Amino acid sequence: MRVKVIAISNHKGGVAKSTTAANLAASLALDGHSVLAVDTDPQAHATILLGCDPAEIAHDLEDVIVHGLATSEAIVSTRIPGLDLIPASLGLARLDLALVGMARRRTASVRPSAALRSATSSQSWTCRHR
Ligand SMILES: Nc1ncnc2c1ncn2[C@@H]1O[C@H](COP(=O)(O)OP(=O)(O)O)[C@@H](O)[C@H]1O
Ligand SMILES: [Mg+2]
Repeated sequence: MRVKVIAISNHKGGVAKSTTAANLAASLALDGHSVLAVDTDPQAHATILLGCDPAEIAHDLEDVIVHGLATSEAIVSTRIPGLDLIPASLGLARLDLALVGMARRRTASVRPSAALRSATSSQSWTCRHR
């Protein structure tokens, strides 16, 4: 499986990062690609835009990176065929604090990309609508 990672990132708030991420993910899925959107922002706007209530999510990226949850366990389906999501909630703000300590200890799994690579390389992630 050939996997492309697209990051939407900017320090400035309110410049349409979440809007772009959600619409790009949905457009790629509707175009026939298998898409995993990963919301890394505690504001959870992309999560909300993709139809998921942050108050109801069971797991987010903090569980994967800090608590060792299998990445596949944090993935939920969306209403859009071909588009799955690792949602965010306000609790994800704790990840920032945890990452500082983990970086000091040079923990290998400190990078979200490492967690995602484990999902794609083991093929434990297959888009749930396909
Ligand atoms: N193309 C656009 N035209 C008008 N408003 C937009 C556009 N893109 C985003 N917005 C609005 O701008 C605000 C900030 O967008 P958002 O994606 O949440 O920014 P960020 O994630 O960078 O903080 C939201 O209210 C969103 O609806
Ligand atoms: Mg945002």
